[in-house]
Amino acid sequence: MMRYPNVRLRRLRRLKGLQTLVRETNLSVSDFIYPMFITYGRNKRDNIEPMPGMYRLSLDLLVEETESISKLGIPAVLLFGIPSSKDSMGTEAYSEKGIIQEAVKLIKKTNPDLIVITDVCLCEYTNHGHCGLVENEQVDNDRSLDLLDKVALSHAHAGADIIAPSSMMDGQVYAIRKSLDSNGFNQIPIMAYSAKYASSFYGPFRVAADSSPQLGDRKGYQMDPPNVTEALREIRADIEEGADIVMVKPAMAYMDVIAKAKMEFELPLAAYNVSGEYAMVKAASENEWINGEKVAMEILTGIKRSGADMVISYHAKELAALLPQN
Ligand code: PBG
Repeated sequence: MMRYPNVRLRRLRRLKGLQTLVRETNLSVSDFIYPMFITYGRNKRDNIEPMPGMYRLSLDLLVEETESISKLGIPAVLLFGIPSSKDSMGTEAYSEKGIIQEAVKLIKKTNPDLIVITDVCLCEYTNHGHCGLVENEQVDNDRSLDLLDKVALSHAHAGADIIAPSSMMDGQVYAIRKSLDSNGFNQIPIMAYSAKYASSFYGPFRVAADSSPQLGDRKGYQMDPPNVTEALREIRADIEEGADIVMVKPAMAYMDVIAKAKMEFELPLAAYNVSGEYAMVKAASENEWINGEKVAMEILTGIKRSGADMVISYHAKELAALLPQN
């Protein structure tokens, strides 16, 4: 009789070692990608108020910081830049001397083994705060592609290891793949923010990057949160356009999307544990309402269990010290 009292599921929970043997998901530092905000100036480590423990870091402090990230065993960083000024075309996003271009060069010179992923978008660089080019109060998809292309190429020239387009413009992966290939960068993988939802969980990030849309919102290009079949379509489209890694973002409220994407596609899958998810854990933890480290560990384990192969998380550094490095 295959039920109680013959079956006792507690047998495998009796000893720590037994639990280790039957553990189905092992979160590891090697799964982590750590996002960073880079800013101009000297000796700057500006607090980001809604993201305790996260900073806007100036270039001169970057070398030391990336060294400590590597020492923790974190294999990759994802870079976001705060430009010196914003304009309607997001010019600094594709300037050869832009903040991200400088940061990439510096990291690759001083810490060549650290994988540098660059976010390709315009919202941090445009005065209207939208992720593309605005014409008649609309984000013009195809003209935006020309600019995103330039951003991606400038990152590749600086030495980026992975290009991550996040603007949710149709055809962005195709456009970027084509121009990378025709400029001698056919070895650079694209990590596509494929299923990126129009989420209120990005609030703290927009404070950090000062990138809130000045007019309207992002619902005309980012996905509607209730949809999941559409997420699979978005991911499929990006794969057909040449994505090497696909992403679901945010993570916590979208674990069903992660699970379905993992079942449906063979590509490596990334999940972005975004700023609002981080901020909630930090706020509750600072109030001593939860144990922040343990909750963060549980969330990231859940994201991996749901199917993510890698997790982009602001918790990466604090959790790295507590995790095995394999
Ligand atoms: C750029 C971008 C955003 C995030 C990552 N890349 C902001 C947005 O789309 O508004 C959000 C990340 C986070 O909240 O941690 N488009």
